[in-house]
Amino acid sequence: MRYKTMPSELFSKNRSQFWKNMTDNSIAIFHSNDLMPKNADQLMPFVQNSDLFYLSGIDQEETVLVIIKTRQAIEEVLFIRETNDLIKVWEGNKLTKEQAKQISGIKKIYWESDFKKLLPKLIKNKKHVYLNSNEHPRANVVVESRDARFKKWVEKNYPNHIYKKSANLLYGIRAVKQKEEIDLIQTACNITKKGVERVFNKLQPGIYEYELGAEILHEFLINRASGFAYDPIIASGENACVLHYCTNNKQCKDGDVVLMDFGAEYGNYASDLTRCFPVNGRFSKRQKAVYNSVLRVMKGAKKLLKPGCFLQEYEKSVGALMEKELVDLGLISVKEINKLKNHPSPAYKKYYMHGTSHHLGLDVHDVSNPQLPLSSGMVLTCEPGIYIPEEGLGIRLENDILIGEDKNIDLMEDIPIEPDEIELLLNI
Ligand code: GLY
Ligand code: MN
Ligand code: MN
Repeated sequence: MRYKTMPSELFSKNRSQFWKNMTDNSIAIFHSNDLMPKNADQLMPFVQNSDLFYLSGIDQEETVLVIIKTRQAIEEVLFIRETNDLIKVWEGNKLTKEQAKQISGIKKIYWESDFKKLLPKLIKNKKHVYLNSNEHPRANVVVESRDARFKKWVEKNYPNHIYKKSANLLYGIRAVKQKEEIDLIQTACNITKKGVERVFNKLQPGIYEYELGAEILHEFLINRASGFAYDPIIASGENACVLHYCTNNKQCKDGDVVLMDFGAEYGNYASDLTRCFPVNGRFSKRQKAVYNSVLRVMKGAKKLLKPGCFLQEYEKSVGALMEKELVDLGLISVKEINKLKNHPSPAYKKYYMHGTSHHLGLDVHDVSNPQLPLSSGMVLTCEPGIYIPEEGLGIRLENDILIGEDKNIDLMEDIPIEPDEIELLLNI
């Protein structure tokens, strides 16, 4: 792996937290993701299942993790892909049992080919079986995962067990980050900062959006990132008003602002940043006014992200901050605000149509338990924006915030955001 070795204690702690929440006399089974096919004989780069990685640290295909709870004792068994000389020649080294033990902190390691032979012994006499599934509220699962295939098989072969969703326990745990995870997210943010610094040196009228993307990627890869944590958005002028623009194929023009939403992934942990720079090095008066409005909303929103608050309430409060700015910019009227006060789509949604914050971690839109309020140790983005297609202008600003008991920490605090500083850095 490109990232530095992570402490196995992180994964042991994660398993132990999950195990504490399991009911007695139960077994939980987690599978790795599949290697996904491209066309002909090609495969996509491997992306590990975040839940399996969180609980084991194993970044390899054909992995199965079993956690058992009986009479308050924990039993952990890991199954990994058995390698051979042919695999070694074509794909290189796969994990040995000893390496898997060192990474995960699990003592009992078997080959994956033994999983279904050993399962009867492991599952026998257990009452509950926790199975893994993607329960992200916006997930659109059309491809059957290994977990889903296994679910069909195990429910058919062991029909007398009670089946439960591991996500119901795990998502709340994953949302509160351990110290080691915060360090990994901070490393990803620091690499993202290097990408921003490269843009300061490269941005000029005539450069293509994809050229900026290539400069950023270069910086990411030479700093041990696995790449972008998500498809980057490099959107100049009116493209910035397309929220999921990622064709990145237009030329950046003199007088336009370029919106750049990108983040490095390090050790499977994401970072997520947005900055907007004037292509010619100077914001126009109007561009700066809109930029400052978004910046004020961001500063206000960061103060609202506190332990105990629910995201739904928080979004309403941020909406009120945004409405004031939109009135001052002459984009909406107080009359329109009042008319749509309790409407599901209030007046500000015309220029600010997305949410302000999402959890961040192993996934860029990380999982959480929405029944629980925010608490210290959670990491969320803060990303207000104003999009004005009729002016060919879209501004979004986004930083990653660690919620603290008394005070939050902005993990991107040292990435320039004040418009005067940005102009200065673009003109050195
Ligand atoms: N880049 C994805 C997001 O900001 O949510
Ligand atoms: Mn985001
Ligand atoms: Mn983003």
